[in-house]
Amino acid sequence: MTAPWSPGSWRERPIRQVPQYPDAAALAAVESRLKSYPPLVFAGEARNLMSVLAQVSAGKAFLLQGGDCAESFAEFHPDNIRDTFRVILQMAVVLTFAAGMPVVKVGRIAGQFAKPRSEETETQGDVTLPSYRGDNINSLEFDAEGRIPDPERLFQAYGQSAATLNLLRAFATGGYADLHNVHRWTLDFIEGSPASERYRALSARIGESLAFMEACGVTPDLVPQLRSTDFYTSHEALFLGYEQALTRIDSTSGDWYCTSAHLLWIGDRTRQPDGGHVEFCRGIKNPIGLKCGPSLAEDELLQLIDLLNPENRPGRLTLICRFGADRIGEQFPRMLRRITREGRNVVWSCDPMHGNTIKCSTGYKTRPFDRVLKEVRGFFEIHRAEGTHAGGIHLELTGKDVTECLGGPQDISERDLASRYDTHCDPRLNASQAIDLSFLVAEALREERPLQFRPPKSNLA
Ligand code: PEP
Ligand code: CO
Repeated sequence: MTAPWSPGSWRERPIRQVPQYPDAAALAAVESRLKSYPPLVFAGEARNLMSVLAQVSAGKAFLLQGGDCAESFAEFHPDNIRDTFRVILQMAVVLTFAAGMPVVKVGRIAGQFAKPRSEETETQGDVTLPSYRGDNINSLEFDAEGRIPDPERLFQAYGQSAATLNLLRAFATGGYADLHNVHRWTLDFIEGSPASERYRALSARIGESLAFMEACGVTPDLVPQLRSTDFYTSHEALFLGYEQALTRIDSTSGDWYCTSAHLLWIGDRTRQPDGGHVEFCRGIKNPIGLKCGPSLAEDELLQLIDLLNPENRPGRLTLICRFGADRIGEQFPRMLRRITREGRNVVWSCDPMHGNTIKCSTGYKTRPFDRVLKEVRGFFEIHRAEGTHAGGIHLELTGKDVTECLGGPQDISERDLASRYDTHCDPRLNASQAIDLSFLVAEALREERPLQFRPPKSNLA
């Protein structure tokens, strides 16, 4: 028998990755005020996401999830939000047009602040301080005062999330995402690159298709999807005091929803079946993600699936696999076979970022783009061999022209990394790398489809 769940029942469980606040009463006061703040998303939206994810688990749609590793207060700017939104939109257009599959767009945005850390402390020279845990907890600067967790930061994170979401909603429905604008979404700095030439050719074909459809009477007035899009938000459910404060009963269904984002995921370091994070997520009705890394045994995964999705509802659970380019071939086929054989309905998504992080000789944490591609290719090949659907991809990316991951269309070298290395945590794909990757995914997805449903190869431009 599982003990009864409540939004605070996680507090009775063992828990990892908890920041040490010097003043527990001050934290409790902040959480209590957050309880009275408006929800950021509506339960009905989370249910819509769950039903489109059910389509993904049935092989009829594809999940594209991406954004910053960690949002930061310093990078909070409308241009950054627009650029991330735009690059996700561009990737989605490539996937939809070239693979002929609806794409579910989910940002790692509007709440992706808290970070799990491998080490409790960081040492520079002879000074040791608590590790940085995300802008909602403490500061990135290596400074004794700034590294002390400060509960007031949770208000700033809430405010930034609300403003970000407000702009995203405006972009999604206010005309920016109109498919007729497809050629305008190109980012200036990637003009002239091979990825942008391919994108330009593809958007010209979409333009022709739209003109043809309009001539046949299919207009945005009749089909509003041509003019707007659905865009969902997600983040890691790591700092549970904040998540609990935003967990509310939905008056329509009577169920508990966490209203800080549409989808929440459990990280690879906090997925213990008896731990606080699993306990919290099991009781909320949002769609849930679960990171699956190399240390996850199949029996434990089955146990987690049954805790998180006891009714085996399609769309409820997305397994985000992050094995690394070298390990996916050894570990993933068995896991996929076992879960499929046991009849569990899940969305399989590939995170080709977190298993491919290296430290280069100049000290930067980076990811070689060819390792990222290799893991994605492996993921698709394994699914094809098993006859299952490669349901989605989970990326750390930005619409800015950063130099954080090696290689790609601009052939970024170790020496280049220093020039625009802006991330607050892990290295992200830049816009050219992200768009390049989307063509590879589109090609793999197209090949997964039965011949009669494949769009012409020329749609890949
Ligand atoms: C992340 O997604 O930023 C992350 C920390 O991933 P993981 O839990 O898979 O290590
Ligand atoms: Co990360």
